[in-house]
Amino acid sequence: MKISIVGSGHVGLVSGVCFAEKGHEVLCVDHDKDKLAKLKRSESPFFEPGMPELLAKHQASKRLHFSDRTEDAVDFGQAIFICVGTPSTERGKADMSFVEKVARTIAENLKDYRLVIEKSTVPIKTGERIKRTMGRYIKGDVNFDVASNPEFLREGSAIEDTLKPDRVVIGVDSAKAESLLREVYKGFDCPIVVTSVGSAELIKHASNSFLALKITYANWLARLCEASGADVDEVVNGMGLDHRIGKHFFGAGIGYGGSCFPKDVDALAHISEEIGVDAPMIRLISDTNKGQLERFYNMIERELWVLNDKTLAVWGLAFKPNTDDLREAPALRLIEKLKAAGARLRVHDPVAMPNTRKLHPDLYYANDPIDACNGADALIVATEWPQYKQADLAKVKATLRVPMIFDGRNCIDRKRVSELGMTLFGVGKEPVKPGE
Ligand code: UDX
Repeated sequence: MKISIVGSGHVGLVSGVCFAEKGHEVLCVDHDKDKLAKLKRSESPFFEPGMPELLAKHQASKRLHFSDRTEDAVDFGQAIFICVGTPSTERGKADMSFVEKVARTIAENLKDYRLVIEKSTVPIKTGERIKRTMGRYIKGDVNFDVASNPEFLREGSAIEDTLKPDRVVIGVDSAKAESLLREVYKGFDCPIVVTSVGSAELIKHASNSFLALKITYANWLARLCEASGADVDEVVNGMGLDHRIGKHFFGAGIGYGGSCFPKDVDALAHISEEIGVDAPMIRLISDTNKGQLERFYNMIERELWVLNDKTLAVWGLAFKPNTDDLREAPALRLIEKLKAAGARLRVHDPVAMPNTRKLHPDLYYANDPIDACNGADALIVATEWPQYKQADLAKVKATLRVPMIFDGRNCIDRKRVSELGMTLFGVGKEPVKPGE
């Protein structure tokens, strides 16, 4: 089947290469000509494992093409996926101007039936609005359908998530739209959940907000553990083994970040309030999440007494491992606060240092994790990259000026820290101190 993708960001590009991998012929459109030049050289514009290989494979197989014109997308694919950005404005309201413009352009250039599918994360009723807008701008007597097909891909495992999803949700209001979307997903081995367009739109926001709520619940439990002497990992493990609760997305730390959770939680609250349903529980998720970083920073400040003129090592900059994405990264907010307090920072991240350097050229960018610790008054772990979990803590101890670790992701081996006589502060845990 011929498929067009409008908007070649994380969602669009990953969907495009994965559809090509499943045998479809795909045209990916983006207005950024520099990005397109990179893509044609099979270079990924962002860090995503497997992306350069699939770009090369399917340009060679002639199943993947690129263009900077939305008009080409209209001519090319029977199914046109809208994957452009919907950035947040004040208090969670999504800016829909890119989606609206694509809808108009598609309508103005429509010659034959097309299925238009919203894949960008959008508020409920966007499908209806796209349909109404297209109806106004269409020339002549051409039919079209609008469907919703939300994505659930995680950065860093986006290709795997897309090729082997837990489920595919398709929101449709016609049999033709359903049959075309079933054709798109023919090669996927997972349940296809067919819903109304509005339900599909809500499933996306509601799923991400639920996961954010679950993380926030773990973070709130961490506070309870800190005040009571219990251990948050023991508590969530004991709870998570109940399959009704589940252990995934139940890890306490310095809070969630990224391009989706913060934006989607705020958007759900906004959508809800706009249609007259109060959303105090959803608003609380976001506030509690922000508070988590404040608490961690306050702990560092309390322990180190004065931050001005101290040298601190920071491991991890990206909002989570396996990505170079800094959007809403707790590490970045922490760095800003530590810098403002006068600390000198020696930072390391396996892939996110080039992006961080653009924002903070004045930091010391370490060659490796141990180099970051060199002469530092303490080490802070802000992202749980596997290499940090496996780091040689004896070397860390030998390199730090003071053998003290603040672990914002509870990923450092407590037993080893204790054996080495180091000090470790975590989230929702009793500190490890020498001789205890
Ligand atoms: C998310 C959703 O998972 C995905 O389905 C959606 O479509 C896009 O948004 P992503 O933003 O790539 O994916 O990251 P994800 O792996 O979900 O992690 C989000 C944040 O939660 C990260 O900052 C991570 O560190 C944090 N997190 C995750 C926790 O703090 N604790 C956990 O137990 C799990």
